[in-house]
Amino acid sequence: MALVVNLKSLNLSEMMENKNLIDTIDKTKLPKHIAIIMDGNGRWAQQRGEQRVFGHNNGVQSVRETAEAAAELGIKFITLYAFSTENWNRPQDEVDALMQLLVVTINSEIKTLNDNNIRLRAIGNLKGLSPQVRAELEEAMGETAENTRMDLFLALNYSGRWEITDAMKKIAEQVKSGNLTLDQINEKLISESMNAPDLPDPELLIRTSGEYRTSNFLMWQTAYTELFFSPKLWPDFRKEDLYEAIIDFQHRERRFGKTSEQIINCKG
Ligand code: FPP
Repeated sequence: MALVVNLKSLNLSEMMENKNLIDTIDKTKLPKHIAIIMDGNGRWAQQRGEQRVFGHNNGVQSVRETAEAAAELGIKFITLYAFSTENWNRPQDEVDALMQLLVVTINSEIKTLNDNNIRLRAIGNLKGLSPQVRAELEEAMGETAENTRMDLFLALNYSGRWEITDAMKKIAEQVKSGNLTLDQINEKLISESMNAPDLPDPELLIRTSGEYRTSNFLMWQTAYTELFFSPKLWPDFRKEDLYEAIIDFQHRERRFGKTSEQIINCKG
């Protein structure tokens, strides 16, 4: 009985803490797009004497919580780095387990995505995924296509350099066919040639697990993105961790090459 009471009061105080954190978020200055590098699944599992895939399985709950928290706040786009082109170099059994987890998770989350009015989308070299993963992904994207509250992007078989190379090829094709001159190539055109032209650059990039790298993620789009590094391993990442990152972001001065004085005068 005492244990039950303790657990209940713990949940209650956690809820209160979350509520207080949410209250300090300025809803008028939310980032439109948050990108997340979900790192630390393997270490989380190893700390518990388990296989790495145990960490990936537990990371799914963090994906749910993060997506839910973001949608509740009114964030319009979330991009999760779910599988990089470099991840194929992992042991085959881990790659297989990750792909299977994607299939199962995407399938089982369609209803929740629809209930929450969230649209599932993807970036990356999707042609390089297995027919089973592609079919599952395409089904889920089709079934959530009409949702409007938030776009949840999965970066799958993705790397920033691959995406930039892909964009360059599209542009080169247009030049080759005579539909584009060299003078017409500019930053706007390159942005529009990326995988999802309507996806705005992320204002905030979060990486978990205390590693300080961006690992070939959204290289073109993160030129002026604020970086937030969380010490938490991904399976431990919860709603309040997202709130903390957003609050930290809201206290930064984004200068885009200008001086601090210029920014302050512009606000005043
Ligand atoms: C990095 O941790 C994590 C990944 C490569 C995979 C992320 C996948 C999930 C969270 C599961 C499913 C996701 C979706 C969207 C359905 P790591 O293995 O590199 O950890 P380590 O650095 O501790 O080894």
